[in-house]
Amino acid sequence: MDRPRILLTRALPEEGIERLHEECELDQWDHDHPMPRGELMERIASADALICLLSDRIDEELLRRGARLRAIGVYAVGYDNVDVNAATARGIPVFNTPGVLTDATADMAFALLLSLARRIVEGDRMVREGRFHSWGPKLLLGKDLRGSTLGVVGAGSIGGAVLRRGKAFGMDLVYHSRTRKDALESELGARYAGLDELLSVSDVVSLNVPLTSETHHLMGAREFGLMKDDALLVNTARGPVVDEVELYEALASGRIGGAALDVYEREPDVYAPLLKLDNVVLAPHLGSATVHTRTKMARMVCDAVLDHLSGGRPENCVNPSVLVSKGEGK
Ligand code: NAP
Ligand code: GLV
Ligand code: GLV
Repeated sequence: MDRPRILLTRALPEEGIERLHEECELDQWDHDHPMPRGELMERIASADALICLLSDRIDEELLRRGARLRAIGVYAVGYDNVDVNAATARGIPVFNTPGVLTDATADMAFALLLSLARRIVEGDRMVREGRFHSWGPKLLLGKDLRGSTLGVVGAGSIGGAVLRRGKAFGMDLVYHSRTRKDALESELGARYAGLDELLSVSDVVSLNVPLTSETHHLMGAREFGLMKDDALLVNTARGPVVDEVELYEALASGRIGGAALDVYEREPDVYAPLLKLDNVVLAPHLGSATVHTRTKMARMVCDAVLDHLSGGRPENCVNPSVLVSKGEGK
């Protein structure tokens, strides 16, 4: 059998993609900027499978061009960039990278939270600019985590890992999700709350939901209005879960205390007024960005696509109904 032709839209860690070199014809975009849409539209036509990034838009128009396409792998756990319904309608399974990036991303949420709560970025600027003149009893005073309340919105893998970290920091835990999680309640003592209640009792709100039509602009003017006026928002989920203009208004008017963001509504653009605020910490979408995690993600997405092409049943499929009907020979 001919080796399958796989389109890879960006160089991934070499250690994680050995199988691609061994088992397929690799069509890889080797530049340090995203593959332009036109290029993707052209190359998809000859691909048996696609491995893409969260920043590539995989929509109906593109899938129509990919007549040979038998699998899509997303190098991320979030797959909101893929029109999964359109893929399902064509019988194409979509694979992602759940689990392997959970701890790295939860660490990032806490790194951002501590940076914001303890004003580390402001302090870094002060030191570099030669404005650190003496230890001061009132210098850059921040907030304690111990004894404060952490509210996690979206208690899945990463949300659960954020709650575990919160427990280790001595925080009281509240969560909101579509379904209750007995394990989080019994193991961590986390309390379930409706979204409005969570927002009104939390000192820290961590967003950990996927981006869907239900979670788009989950946080807007009304929701910021429910938060405590010194509460901190941490977003490591997806930018459009937050209405960025309303977030700016809430921060600038002192309606909430601060925000730590890893993701943006129109990445890589950031709503410019946010850049002027001191009570904001900004990271360039680094949730899973550790050497080890990115290698595991590469291996996981490659294994799924290659195993599927050779008749296997990878578990990390987001539209498994496609695999069932294939197995039943429909
Ligand atoms: P996950 O295990 O699927 O968890 C997501 C949770 O969100 C699920 O448990 C689900 O709740 C809950 N949820 C979905 N819709 C909801 C709604 N409308 N209201 C309340 N809760 C809702 O996924 P994960 O691995 O934790 O990843 C979560 C997201 O983080 C990803 O989708 C991705 O967008 C983002 N992410 C970002 C980075 C980064 O670099 N910043 C890295 C990794 C992931 P139920 O279980 O109750 O149904
Ligand atoms: C990163 O944002 C991911 O969804 O894996
Ligand atoms: C601070 O550095 C202290 O010793 O308390």
